[in-house]
Amino acid sequence: MRYITFALAKGRLAKKTMELLEKIGIFCEEMKDEKTRKLIFVNEELKLKFFLAKATDVPTYVEYGAADIGVVGKDTILEEGRHFYEVMDLGFGKCRMCVCGPESAKELLERNELIRVGSKYPEIAKDYFYHKKHQTVEIIKLNGSVELAPIVGLSEVIVDIVETGSTLRENGLQVLEEIVECSARMVVNEVSMKMEQERIMDIITRLKEVI
Ligand code: PRP
Repeated sequence: MRYITFALAKGRLAKKTMELLEKIGIFCEEMKDEKTRKLIFVNEELKLKFFLAKATDVPTYVEYGAADIGVVGKDTILEEGRHFYEVMDLGFGKCRMCVCGPESAKELLERNELIRVGSKYPEIAKDYFYHKKHQTVEIIKLNGSVELAPIVGLSEVIVDIVETGSTLRENGLQVLEEIVECSARMVVNEVSMKMEQERIMDIITRLKEVI
């Protein structure tokens, strides 16, 4: 029997994923060691492998078949635009992708002005402003602490994920428009789904029973 390989977005999502998998009897003890620098973990008994990757790389590993199954946020899936089957909403990691900014930016949006948009998600921002709103904007790619951009005058608004809303609140910003709801999704490589249909469908079915 060949191994089935999982690619997990490292951090909170990976931890929640392992908690969920434990409910259906899928364990990986060596992954629980927080100090380990190992990148790949094996459950020999179940013939499963797990690796932790940067969230934005998970779709790439799954599209190319280096992982059969991936767990990653819908935000990353939309941004990366890769090909695979999105088979399940795992129900955790819930957040909203939003256009945010100071209250004063509201009218810039309403008047369709040429504004600057700071974002870690330039593709989602482009799709939203160009194809849904038909508003011409300048998108500025950032890599983190995106809330800074409208505060220091880099951009008028940002496109970012909002979970509790506290980052926005503490920085005098607010949600101006909602783009899409996001959460953790399970994705499957298209070839793996055919080659290992039985084992993969069994995992999906059992997960659906506990979610
Ligand atoms: C994310 C996101 C917001 C924040 C939203 O950032 O980009 O900044 O969390 O969460 P909240 O609504 O609960 O405050 P993350 O913590 O991933 O760090 P980053 O800014 O470095 O990307």
